[in-house]
Amino acid sequence: MASRHTLCLLVLAAAGVAGASTVAYDDRALVIDGQRRIILSGAIHYPRSTPEMWPDLINKAKRGGLNTIETYVFWNGHEPRRRQYNFKGNYDIVRFFREIHTAGMYAILRIGPYVCAEWNYGGLPAWLRDIPGMQFRLHNEPFEREMETFTTLIVNKMKEASMFAGQGGPIILAQIENEYGDIMAQLNNNRSASQYIHWCADMANKQKVGVPWIMCQQNHDLPHNVINTCNGFYCHDWYPNRTGIPKMWTENWIGWFKKWGLPDFHRTTEDSAFAVAMFFQKRGSVMNYYMYHGGTNFSRTTGGPYLTTSYDYDAPLDEYGNIRQPKYGHLKNLHNVLLSMETTLVHGEYNESSYGENITVTKYTYGDSSVCFVSNQLHDRDVNVTLGGTHLVPAWSVSILPDCKTVAFNTAKIKTPASVMVMRPSTAEEPEALNWSWMPEKLRPFMTDDCGSFRKNQLLEQITTSGDQSDYLWYMTSLEHKGEGTYTLYVNTTGHELCAFVNGELVGQKHSTNSDYAFQLESLAKLHSGKNYISLLSGTVGLTNYGALFELVPAGIVGGPVKLVGPNGTAIDLTKNSWSYATGLDGEHRQIHLDKPGNNWRGHNEGIVPVYRPFTWYKTSFDAPAGEEAVVVDLLGLNKGAAWVNGNSLGRYWPSYAAAEMDGCHVCDYRREFNAAGDESDLQCLTGCGEPSQRFYHVPRSFLRRDGEPNTLILFEEAGGDPTRAAFRTVAVATTACASPGAEVCGEHGVIAGVDVVRGSCGAYYEGGCETKAALQTFTAACVGRE
Ligand code: GAL
Repeated sequence: MASRHTLCLLVLAAAGVAGASTVAYDDRALVIDGQRRIILSGAIHYPRSTPEMWPDLINKAKRGGLNTIETYVFWNGHEPRRRQYNFKGNYDIVRFFREIHTAGMYAILRIGPYVCAEWNYGGLPAWLRDIPGMQFRLHNEPFEREMETFTTLIVNKMKEASMFAGQGGPIILAQIENEYGDIMAQLNNNRSASQYIHWCADMANKQKVGVPWIMCQQNHDLPHNVINTCNGFYCHDWYPNRTGIPKMWTENWIGWFKKWGLPDFHRTTEDSAFAVAMFFQKRGSVMNYYMYHGGTNFSRTTGGPYLTTSYDYDAPLDEYGNIRQPKYGHLKNLHNVLLSMETTLVHGEYNESSYGENITVTKYTYGDSSVCFVSNQLHDRDVNVTLGGTHLVPAWSVSILPDCKTVAFNTAKIKTPASVMVMRPSTAEEPEALNWSWMPEKLRPFMTDDCGSFRKNQLLEQITTSGDQSDYLWYMTSLEHKGEGTYTLYVNTTGHELCAFVNGELVGQKHSTNSDYAFQLESLAKLHSGKNYISLLSGTVGLTNYGALFELVPAGIVGGPVKLVGPNGTAIDLTKNSWSYATGLDGEHRQIHLDKPGNNWRGHNEGIVPVYRPFTWYKTSFDAPAGEEAVVVDLLGLNKGAAWVNGNSLGRYWPSYAAAEMDGCHVCDYRREFNAAGDESDLQCLTGCGEPSQRFYHVPRSFLRRDGEPNTLILFEEAGGDPTRAAFRTVAVATTACASPGAEVCGEHGVIAGVDVVRGSCGAYYEGGCETKAALQTFTAACVGRE
C-alpha cells in the first residue's frame, strides 16, 4: 500500500535553539527534522536503579541497537507528602534525562501520572485519598487539580532543563494517562470516564511541550489531540484507530514481573525477536521494550501488590544491569538489520502476499531498493519459501531479506551464545566472617490498648488509616473475662498478612497466598480472669496498582469480623469493640535502619544472637567485596522482613516463601504465543519453581563504602529467621556451552529437545556443581526449543 503523505507538523519553530529538532508524524512514522524514523526504544525506570548505574545501562541499550530510552514518571516517589517533593538520588529525573541526552539518544517521557508499572498504587500517592471529594482517574475537580499540578511540575522541570526536542533535548514523545481504554471498558464507558480522558488530552496539550502526546491502549473514545498506541506481547495485528498516525508499540512485554510465591517468567529470545520482526513486517515503526532493564524495587513504596523486590522482568539487561544473552545479542542483530533498511521501511510501497496458510511475504519497495520479510506463523511446521532462492523458514519465525534474495536474519536462528549468572562467594564475607548484634522490636507498648493514637468502635480499612506511611497497622482492644477460658480466635482480613497477640503472647501468624489477598486467621487464645488484651498487627506487601477503582481495594482487617469462639460454641464478637490504632513499628519511628548512635544493640562480639525470633532487628558490618561485579546479599535462612545497607533500603525480603511448582515449570517451546498474564495452563518456560521466590538482594555498588571502610547491613526480621547464614556474593556472567553444537541434545528438526547432565567439569558454579536443579533449569530454559 502506498503511503499517504499526510504530514502533521507539530513543531515548526525551534529557531534559535542549538540542536533543536522538530517532531511530527504521519501515517508511516515519526518525522524528526523532516525525516521519517524508525524508533527502537527500551524502558528503564530510573528509580529502579541508581544514578551511578544509569550511564552504563543507557550505553548498553545504545550498543544493543536502540536509539531511544523510555521511562514513566513516579508521582508517589516524587511527592511522598503533599507539596513535599523529592528529586534526589534515584528520583533525580532531570539527571536521568541528561544522561540519555549525553548518550546521544532520544527519550520518551511517559508522565502518566497513573503508571501501573507494578508500582505501589500505580504511582498515585496515598495522600490523595485524604482530599475531600477525591475519585481517582475520573472526572472530578480534586483529582484533576492534583494531576494537573504534578504534570505541570514535571513538564516545567523538563523545560527548564531544555529536555524537549524543540529545545535541543532528547524527548520526542510524551504520554498522558496509561491504558485508560481498558479501564473505561470496565466502567462501561461511563460519562465521567469519557470526560476525564478528554480532559487529560486537553490538559496535556495545554502544556505546549512541542512533541506529540500519546495515550496507550485508548482504542475507543480517543481524543482528537493525542495518538493511540498498542501494548502487549504482540502488536503486529493491531492498527491505529485513526488515519494519519503511525503504528506505535509502547510496551513490548519482553518478559514478565514476579510475585512472591511465583516462579520466574521467561520469554524466549526466539519469540521476542519474532514479535518484533512481525511488527516491522506489518508497517510498525515505533517500538519500545517493556522492560529493557527492569531493576529493583528498592523501597517499600515501590513494588505493587506482592511484587518481589527484584523486577528483573527477564529483560535484555538483567536486574543488576548485566547483559542477558542470547536475548540482548540476538535482538541487537535484529535492530541492526531493521535500521539498515530504515529508509525503505518508512517510505516503501508495501505489498503483502500469502504463500499459504500462515505464511506471509511482505515486500517494501522504494526506488530501486526492496526489502522482504517472510513470516511463518505455524506452530509446528518449518516451510520452504522460494524468493530469489529457496529459504527454510522454521515454525514461528520471521526471515528478513534486506535485498529480497538473501536471508540476513531469522528470528529463530540464534548466533549469540547464552549467558548464565553465577553467584560468586565474596572472599571476606562468608557467613562465619559476619559478626552479628541484635535488638528486639519494642512490642510491649502495643500489647495493651492504652497507647494507640486514636480509638474507634469499628475495624477500619488499613490504607485509609495508615496513609500507607508504613506496611504495619496495629489494631488493639481489650475485654473482661470471668475465670480462665480457652477460645479459638478468628480474624477475617483483606490482607496481606496478620500477627495475633493475646495478652502479650504471639498466638498466630499468617499471610495471603495464591494472589487471594483475603484470608481468615485462626489461632488458640487463652483468656484469664479479668482484663485481657488482643493485639492484631496487620501488614501490607505493596498496594494494588491496576483495575477500575483500584484505590477502593481494601487492605487490613476492614469490618472483620474478629471473634472468639469457645469450646461449647459460645462466641464473643469483638468486631464492634473499642479498637485502638497505631501505625508503624516502634523501630520504624526510631529509624533504627539509619543506625544512629544510642541504640542498645546486644551480643556484639559475643557470637550469640537469637535465631528464629520474630520481630528482631539484626546488624552486622562487612567490607565491600572487591572488584566491580554487582553485589548481592544472600538472605537464605531469613524469613520475612526488610533490609538496609548504610541506611539505603534494599527493599522487602522473603526468602522463606517458595515459588510454586506449576506445569509451566517443565515445558518451554518458543513455537507458540507467549502469555504470562493469562491462565496458568498457558504458562511455560518458568524457572525457580519450588525454590525461594527471591534469595539474592541487590546491593548497588554506590550504596557501599570502599577503601576498607566498614559497611552496615541492618535487617528487620518479622517472622523469625537465622541471620548467621547470610552472606555477600558478587554476580559474574558466564557463557554457556549451549552455543557449541557438541553440547546440544538434538531432537526433531535440529531443535534442542532437552538438556542432560554429563559428569565432568562445568565451570564455576558456586554450589552443588552443574547437576543442581537450578543449573539444569537455567540450561533448559536457555537451550530447549532452539536450533
Ligand atoms: C501494562 C502497564 C504497564 C505494566 C505492564 C505489565 O498493562 O501499562 O505499566 O504494568 O502492563 O508489566
